[in-house]
Amino acid sequence: MRHFLTLNDISKDEILDILQIAKDIKKEALNKEYKPYLKDQFLAMIFEKSSTRTRVSFEVGMQQLGGKALFLSNKDIQLGRGEPIKDTARVLGGMVDMIMARVYKQSDLEELAKFSNLPVINGLSDDFHPVQLMADLLTLDELGVDITSMKVAYVGDGNNMTNSWLMAASKLGFELRVATPNGYEAPKWVVDIALQNAKQSGAIIKIGNDPKEAINSADVVTTDTWVSMGQEDEKAKRVAEFNGFCVDKDMMNLAAPKAKFLHCLPAYRGYEVSEDIFELHADEIFAEAHNRLHAQKGVMVWCDRMRNE
Ligand code: CP
Ligand code: NVA
Repeated sequence: MRHFLTLNDISKDEILDILQIAKDIKKEALNKEYKPYLKDQFLAMIFEKSSTRTRVSFEVGMQQLGGKALFLSNKDIQLGRGEPIKDTARVLGGMVDMIMARVYKQSDLEELAKFSNLPVINGLSDDFHPVQLMADLLTLDELGVDITSMKVAYVGDGNNMTNSWLMAASKLGFELRVATPNGYEAPKWVVDIALQNAKQSGAIIKIGNDPKEAINSADVVTTDTWVSMGQEDEKAKRVAEFNGFCVDKDMMNLAAPKAKFLHCLPAYRGYEVSEDIFELHADEIFAEAHNRLHAQKGVMVWCDRMRNE
């Protein structure tokens, strides 16, 4: 059995396999052909944090695959009142077929995986957001970008999205330049893993504090909120310290001609991205959001196939 907790656990070939499954299923879905790849399976969806895209993509996706999804908000289930994660895992293990969870601690996902005996999918943790990356890669591939040799610039907070881009680059072998303000770098342990992986994949990983240097001639520019879920108390301090990191017209002009701009959403205009750049790239950004549905179906079908192998 395999889990989907971070792209570091998945090989390059497996990432490409999942993208192929997603593409095939998307093609069928666009022809209104919904094959029951996960017939009668139940997906438990645990949410300790808010969500629009992750919830809708997994819930609609599971239904279109012939199964059903249960929305389990932390506010409503006993986990939120202190029932241990390992007990929740063992209960779900005897009732459903797969778990997707959005949590604070990555270690909670590992505990769910250890005790449930079910495939567990990371629907975002403080450390990683790998299912979002699958949608981002699918979108870039559809836009004609070579996802194994592109140059990507990530500008902003060194957060779960940065970490996921680092894992993706280091596995697929593309070039990633990360620019964060001083003190907001991606954690050293994640960068160390990426640099280690890069030795095998040939990825070029550059970590710095200069957004213009990162964006210079990049094929893809991406960013994320400066204030992730759980950091709301730090908003004023962060907004002050991220001054100069808004992806605006002047910044995008430094990228390669026809460079793509992605944002996992929700976006905060005037902070990490300007209104005009957001709207100029809205087609790419919403294609990325819509691809959550197809990419997440790919991840679920892959997890199911791995269980049966
Ligand atoms: N990008 C993303 O994960 O969106 P949600 O928080 O709405 O699920
Ligand atoms: N970094 C953001 C991503 C939201 C999808 C957060 O964790 O809130």
